[in-house]
Amino acid sequence: VSTVGAAGATGMAVGATGGAVAQAVARTDRKAPTPLSSVGSTRVPFHGKHQAGITTPLQAFGHLLAFDLVSGAGRKQAAKLLKRWSRTARELMAGESTADSTGIALDAGPSSLSVTFGFGRSFFSRTGLEKERPRELAPLPDFSGDALDKDLSNGDLWVQIGCNDGLVAFDALREIQRQADGTARLRWQMNGFTRTPGATKRPMTMRNLMGQVDGTNNPKRSEEDFDRRIFVPSSSSPAWMADGSYAVVRRIRMLLDTWDKESLSEQEKVIGRRKSDGAPLTGGTEDTDPDLEKRDADGSPAIAADAHVRVTAPATNGGAAMLRRPFSYHDGFRDDGAPDAGLLFIAWQADPQRGFVPVQRKLDRGDALSRFIRHEASGLFAVPGGPSKGEYVGQRLLE
Ligand code: HEM
Repeated sequence: VSTVGAAGATGMAVGATGGAVAQAVARTDRKAPTPLSSVGSTRVPFHGKHQAGITTPLQAFGHLLAFDLVSGAGRKQAAKLLKRWSRTARELMAGESTADSTGIALDAGPSSLSVTFGFGRSFFSRTGLEKERPRELAPLPDFSGDALDKDLSNGDLWVQIGCNDGLVAFDALREIQRQADGTARLRWQMNGFTRTPGATKRPMTMRNLMGQVDGTNNPKRSEEDFDRRIFVPSSSSPAWMADGSYAVVRRIRMLLDTWDKESLSEQEKVIGRRKSDGAPLTGGTEDTDPDLEKRDADGSPAIAADAHVRVTAPATNGGAAMLRRPFSYHDGFRDDGAPDAGLLFIAWQADPQRGFVPVQRKLDRGDALSRFIRHEASGLFAVPGGPSKGEYVGQRLLE
């Protein structure tokens, strides 16, 4: 992550397309560059071994989009689209204006924008690339607690946008959507958010909409086996997925009316951590490991048998681990008055059969949290490695 000096300094090029919008941009452009804060000027690199948006610090705003290729569009059209999308992502992430800029993002700088691209299972049959389809994209099993909406699940192509400025995020979303025209149709969109970086003096683990500190025990980049758990090895098969990762996306609604009626101690029992600071119920601070062996005076486990942290801990799952990088969402209120809100759960791993699947199987059998959540949408996407200079995302698959 690096910073650029000022929005104007990176050159707000005006498109050759002309028109009222572009002219308005040109007028604004002639003004002195806007001085940026560190929030606005922070830039996430587009090129690299891995795509941005996986280990990038979580941004305040997120948009998830899935597209289906239109009939008649195949591999060639998909390659052209990925080329267009990659160029736009590169320019916007650098804080540059694109040829078709509408001016929405002027003045704000790149604001840590990241754009991440992935392929769903159906992409490979639509493009005649079945031979290149990774076995890791086998459909996720059905879980007994699932209440999935098929129209909000899966898709040929997946785009994740993260940004610390809502206007810059929307600008990227709009450009991506416009460029798909004629090649791919939007299948679903989900919008999320989390805490604004800089709102607290020191960086803190975010809270979800149940009020819990969420993300504490994520694998850390400093850990020796981090890369092996999260990224596909360089010598993988298929070769185009080298240094990529698999994203499991679940829209999980929280039954907040039920949850909010529970006592604090019951809420803490469900997770196995304190709500105030995220420390395990077995003592210490947020960073202390939960002691899964510890028993209370009456002999019962200090962290309940069905507590979420016990059921999900790698120690109780044969080492299964994933990097959770979720956004919260709120889509208004349902007819029954309950908030339509929860977690856009995104889990990254080198192999979902060794990450998400075994853990979710166990959660499905006995997680104290299940009473308070509903999995309503699901997707699994192959996210190739990051592009090198001059390359577009997915080029190793599509050419
Ligand atoms: C840990 C909340 C769904 C996997 C946690 C923690 C909270 C939490 C508060 C403890 C703090 C932390 O280490 O991050 C939730 C909520 C969910 C949800 C509110 C749904 C709305 C899931 C799902 C999975 C999962 C679907 C995977 C299938 C994990 C893992 C940990 C964890 C692996 C870390 C366990 C450890 O090593 O201590 N979750 N979670 N969670 N959760 Fe979830």
